[in-house]
Amino acid sequence: MKTITVFKGDGIGPEITDAVIEILKAAKAPLSYEFFNVGAAEYERNGALIPDEAFQSFEKTRLLLKSPITTPIGKGFRSLNVTLRKKYDLYANIRPAKSNAAVPTPFPNVDIVTFRENTEGLYVGVEYKINEDTVHAIKIITRKASERIIRAAFEYAVSHNRKKVTCVHKANILKMTDGMFLDIFKAIAKEYPQIESDDKIVDNTCMQLVMHPETMDVIVTPNLYGDILSDLTSGLIGGLGLMPSMNIGDDYAMFEAVHGSAPDIAGKHIANPTALLWSACMLLEYIGETKIAANIRKAVDNVLAEKQHLTPDLGGKATTEEYRDAVIAKL
Ligand code: NAI
Ligand code: MG
Repeated sequence: MKTITVFKGDGIGPEITDAVIEILKAAKAPLSYEFFNVGAAEYERNGALIPDEAFQSFEKTRLLLKSPITTPIGKGFRSLNVTLRKKYDLYANIRPAKSNAAVPTPFPNVDIVTFRENTEGLYVGVEYKINEDTVHAIKIITRKASERIIRAAFEYAVSHNRKKVTCVHKANILKMTDGMFLDIFKAIAKEYPQIESDDKIVDNTCMQLVMHPETMDVIVTPNLYGDILSDLTSGLIGGLGLMPSMNIGDDYAMFEAVHGSAPDIAGKHIANPTALLWSACMLLEYIGETKIAANIRKAVDNVLAEKQHLTPDLGGKATTEEYRDAVIAKL
């Protein structure tokens, strides 16, 4: 039995969290839960978006299932996600994009996992004004951060029976920064002879992703390219709505849906909990509960394929709770 920390978030956060927890319980996931209200409502109550006890719980459990949080605008707030990534050194941002029967797209055979470096590259946010007409931005690539994200991608490939890892870069132009990232990739690839490896330049990758997405498997790439490519892969499978993610470091792991708090439908009980549920499946896989994760995935696939209990975002009429119960019935 493992204890996990759960942030219920705001907007649709509490509704989809409740549905996901019910499904986890029905699947007999060996988890116990420490729940925390975080986000705007918590801020109004206690003056902090994330209460100290919530941080303390995560520091103890080291596993966080996080539902979306509204980022208050105009109060000088730093994005909560950026805060969590920095504070807990969650260096690998991992997004699996897999085609789904419920969401027909021109690309039915997509199954791509992007490993985005999460801590450096151009996103260190160091910019200088040289003069009125010239500004500079700094891109930082370090051996340490490159090695750990590349190794994480290969380890994932091994543990998830993937065939190939592709390094995406622009080393033909950025010879030192991306060049070092690519050199490190080639060295680490030698340690994994059972996994095929290759590299592609980022612009060509964009074309390949749209023309032949079925040829891509695991991608590992610096921060900026990873940000852009993972949205592109979301688009291939029909948008952000069915996209889970995990952010992992050496000591901590955080799992969340890619979508936001959807204030427009909050409280209406029509939110789709699938992306958060799949994020919970990634958590189960991360702690070795692969069988229970597979059972849940199969139940979800069946419900989506039958199209009888789809939420409105997927063209159906089901409430969050009806969808939840359909998944539980399959379990
Ligand atoms: P959003 O993803 O919340 O919503 C975009 C559209 O997708 C809306 O029409 C919404 O109803 C729909 N949608 C999203 N998730 C859905 C679901 N599970 N089921 C059915 N429909 C769904 O993006 P938006 O509106 O740009 O952001 C709203 C708030 O969420 C903002 O405050 C933003 O800062 C925050 N946000 C938080 C994130 C996080 O905590 N990880 C990530 C992205 C945004
Ligand atoms: Mg982005």
